[in-house]
Amino acid sequence: MTLSPAALLSELEPTAARLVERHLGSSKEWFPHELVPWGRGRDFEPGGTWCPEDADVGGAQLSEAARSALYVNLLTEDNLPYYFNDIDRVFATADTYRYWTRRWTAEEGRHSIAIRDYLTVSRAIDPWELERARMVQVTGAETPKPTSPQQGFCYLAIQELATRVSHLNTGKVLGDAVGYNVMARVAFDENLHFMFYRDMVGACLEVDPSATVIELYGVVRDFSMPGVGIPGFDRHAQIIARAGIYDIVSHHDRIVQPLVHNTWRIAELTGLDDEAEVARDKLLKQVDRLGRLARRTAERRGDKVEVLA
Ligand SMILES: [Fe+2]
Ligand SMILES: [Fe+2]
Repeated sequence: MTLSPAALLSELEPTAARLVERHLGSSKEWFPHELVPWGRGRDFEPGGTWCPEDADVGGAQLSEAARSALYVNLLTEDNLPYYFNDIDRVFATADTYRYWTRRWTAEEGRHSIAIRDYLTVSRAIDPWELERARMVQVTGAETPKPTSPQQGFCYLAIQELATRVSHLNTGKVLGDAVGYNVMARVAFDENLHFMFYRDMVGACLEVDPSATVIELYGVVRDFSMPGVGIPGFDRHAQIIARAGIYDIVSHHDRIVQPLVHNTWRIAELTGLDDEAEVARDKLLKQVDRLGRLARRTAERRGDKVEVLA
């Protein structure tokens, strides 16, 4: 039996309420301004220029990969609050969901405040280029447009875990303890977001397994990182992947494979209808394919790249 979106969300509302309570109990209030090394800051000349030597990241030399990761990760965070419209359209059937989406949006906004303030005072990347890119990305309205609650929950679960891994690994390659603390703090929040969406997918699999498996297959097959739409995204994504900050190996080994097999146990689901059985088969093959690609990538780069987080 496939439930309507409204019926599914109604059925899941007590679960969502419990997960919101868990989130509020696990998250601690924090302040971006307390993490930012303001003492490193100085005025910018209007119409000025930036060069890598301007950076003050605690004495470290930033790699090109670290700069690419900071650029993509911040612009991703800048854009996340603009997901609100699409998420709210799909989920906002009850106050519980409306509250969660607003709370999530506020937390994502906090992430961009923290990372931007750190980058502005440390001059780690070009602030003029960054602001122009933010305008392009947000104006371009590149946001996921889920057509069902299950599709939204599945995408957000994968996106949050991917973002967590990416932030943490970015913090590790900075070589600056202050910068690491900013990225690790943001990554901690992403984990709490991930837990909410992960468990909403789990609840969807219990209430309406066939429709959820079909949506999950589509999300895994078509997944792209939330930074799509950022100017130069493909080039930066390649640099980030070569450095092992976020690549096919992390995507398979740390995200898709454990979620599909260990968390949601897709291979063990029973009671699927015929269409969902086909989707499950394709999903499991897709995960295997990602795994083969990941192994080939890991072998090709040998020991040259340390596998992070
Ligand atoms: Fe975030
Ligand atoms: Fe998040």
